[in-house]
This record gives sequence, C-alpha cells and structure tokens, in this order.
Amino acid sequence: MKLIGPFQQLVTLKGLVLKGAIKDDELEVIEYGGILVDDEVIVQVGPWAELKSGDFDELEEITSPMVALPGLIDSHTHICFGGTRERDYAMRIAGKSYLEIAKAGGGIWDTVTHTRAASANDLLEGMLQRISRQILYGITTCEVKSGYGLSVEEELKMLRTIQKAQQSTPIELVATCLAAHTKPRDFPGTNQEYLTLMLSDLLPTVKAESLAQRIDIFTEEGAFTVAESQPYLETAKSMGFDLTIHGDQFSSCGSELGVNVGVRSVDHLEASTEKDILRLAKSDVIGTALPGASLGLGCPFTPARQLLDQGGCLAIASDWNPGSAPMGDLLTQAAILSTMEKLSTAETFAGLTFRAAAALGLTDRGQLTPGKMGDLVAFPTSDYRDILYYQGQMKPVGTWKNGTRIHG
Ligand code: NIG
Ligand code: FE
Repeated sequence: MKLIGPFQQLVTLKGLVLKGAIKDDELEVIEYGGILVDDEVIVQVGPWAELKSGDFDELEEITSPMVALPGLIDSHTHICFGGTRERDYAMRIAGKSYLEIAKAGGGIWDTVTHTRAASANDLLEGMLQRISRQILYGITTCEVKSGYGLSVEEELKMLRTIQKAQQSTPIELVATCLAAHTKPRDFPGTNQEYLTLMLSDLLPTVKAESLAQRIDIFTEEGAFTVAESQPYLETAKSMGFDLTIHGDQFSSCGSELGVNVGVRSVDHLEASTEKDILRLAKSDVIGTALPGASLGLGCPFTPARQLLDQGGCLAIASDWNPGSAPMGDLLTQAAILSTMEKLSTAETFAGLTFRAAAALGLTDRGQLTPGKMGDLVAFPTSDYRDILYYQGQMKPVGTWKNGTRIHG
C-alpha cells in the first residue's frame, strides 16, 4: 500500500449527484489530506495525520503545496490525424464561409487526405505527441475517435493505431469508431449505402479485434440525416456497441435522435433549442459541451447552464481536432465555459471528471473515493479555487495514473 501526500486540499467530488446543478458548498474538501492506494485503486482518503499513523508500505511525500483533484477525463477527442488546417482557420477568422473554405480544399476532407497518406507509424507518432500534452494538462483518461479514414481499410488503420498507442502511454485511451463522420468524396454510392457498408464490412472487424466498444455518428445537414443515422445506430447497438452522437452542432437534430435511441451521450449541442435541452435533461443521456469547438469556430457555447438547471448531466470535453478545435487544452476551455455559462466550480470539476467518466460508461474513476482508480492531478496552490481563477494557466505539477506518478 502506498500513501501519497500531504496535499493542502483534496477535492474529492464525493457524493455529488450525476445529474443537475451542484453548488460549491456541496464540494468535499479535505484540508491537509492524503490518499492511500493499493494495487492501483484508492483504499482510503482522509486527514494526513490519521493516514500517516496507519498502515502503508511506501510513502510518496509531497513537499510543496498542492491541491489534488481526480485525474481529468477528456471524453471526446479526434487526436489521431494527419496534417493540420491552419489555412481553414485563417480563412475562417477572416470571415470566409464554410463553402469557400471547402472550395479552397479545406474541411474534414483535407484531414482525411492527409490521414490516409500518413503511414501508421507517422499517425502513431503524432498521436503520442498529443497524448504527452494531454498528460501535461492532467488528463488520465482520453477518448480518441477514428473518422478521418472513411473507408474500411483506413478506419481500421486509425483504430489499430489508437490500439497501438495504448502500449506506449500510461493514460487510458478509449477508442470510438467514427466511420460515420461524413461520406467520403471518393465513395460512389449514397449516404445510406456508405453506412450499410460500414455496418457490414467494418464494424464486425472492429468487434472481433476489440478495436472500439463505441460508435459515433455526425448527425447534421451535410453529414448524415436523422433518418440515415437512426438505423445505423440501432444496428450498431444490436451488435453490442455503446453509442454516442455529434449532435445539434449547427442545427437542431441529433439530440432528439440520441434520446430516442438511448445513446450514452450527445456531444456539441451548440444549436440546441430549449426544447432539445429539456428533453435531454429529462433523459439519461449525457450532454457534452465542447467549448474548444465553440472557440475554434467562433460559435455559441453549449447552453450548459440551462442543461444543468433543467436537471441534466453535463460533461465537458476538448473535441481536440485539426479543424474545429485545434487548441487542445481542456482545462483552459472548461474555465472559459464556466465564466461564459456561469457554471460553479463544482459543476465544472464534475464535468471534467465523474460526469465525463459516465459519458464513457465508466464508473470506476472520476472521484477520490475508496474503490476508484488512483487517478489524480495536482496543482501548485493551497486553494482549489485558483484552478479556475487562473483560467487554465495554472498547470498541473503532478499527475498520477493508477497510483503511479506519470508527470511532475
Ligand atoms: O467534432 N463536427 C464534426 N466533427 C468534428 C470536426 C472535425 C473536423 O473539422 O476535422 C467536430 O467538431
Ligand atoms: Fe468531435
């Protein structure tokens, strides 16, 4: 058993509700505390003096003031890709339309071209570099989507690369198959024919090789309609996959479908109507805000306050990708979302931890409580409020995965 501490404060997130608003006075803050970990799992969290006088075999002493939170969970990323899209970005901030950018060779297709041209090894290298940044940001679980291959072989290349990356990083990667990102330009048939091909020729291999347990689809005008998305999701569900949707990003569609099909989460929601948010809040579907995409596209933020006030579950993720969300700094983005949407510190921390875990179907992490994984992130302060106050500029000085220090 290993004892880690003392921390000036441990913000455990213990006992907080999965759905709805949370007030900051509901946060459990253990002053001058420690964490006892056994075999990768937390066994005790409490005052330092008490733990120090108890049983342990190893002591990892913290010698400078730090505040610890559960390790951050980024439940939505596209960090496996080739190429970059600075041309799109420059055109967008200069006021060019989506169509003008696409005509100049930009958009998702540009990344598909570069991802297909990249060797599996180059893809892996780029991804591992982004993962090392994720570790510096305090992320201990990171979802990664395919979706820039858009053919059976190229989607498999991406998913196998994600699987391979797991061997080279201490943080946990959760793969999602996003073959239904958009129909590729070189596919000769209809949207429906493309989706049917993915169902028959890709998903069985994804299952057989355990490349991903989750399926995602971009439900949007210009990607896949609700009528096209529904049978795809239902068939994937019958094959035993967990589901998630990119929904309500530019128009209200997607979130209603998500509730009807019973997906785990609907992500984006920047264009959700009040009715959409109410429906989502009443369901068990988690709404994921992606402030990095709002910042990258210059679009409104997800109505996160409204979702919480209506009783919904809000996760916050980075959407890190080369097009709409190039920043890739989850804490900074969450801090910005919290000031724009008026989220409490407790709601923001919850969205980055146990509520994000729930969006991935994980219940074994996201709180510093006995039985959860020993995943934590520590900041150089004595007051947990500094973490959002510095708007992401106070960087973690320590990160632990399964009780082992991986940063700092
Ligand atoms: O989550 N909305 C669809 N997909 C991505 C963007 C992908 C891209 O532009 O490369 C997103 O924002
Ligand atoms: Fe996305």
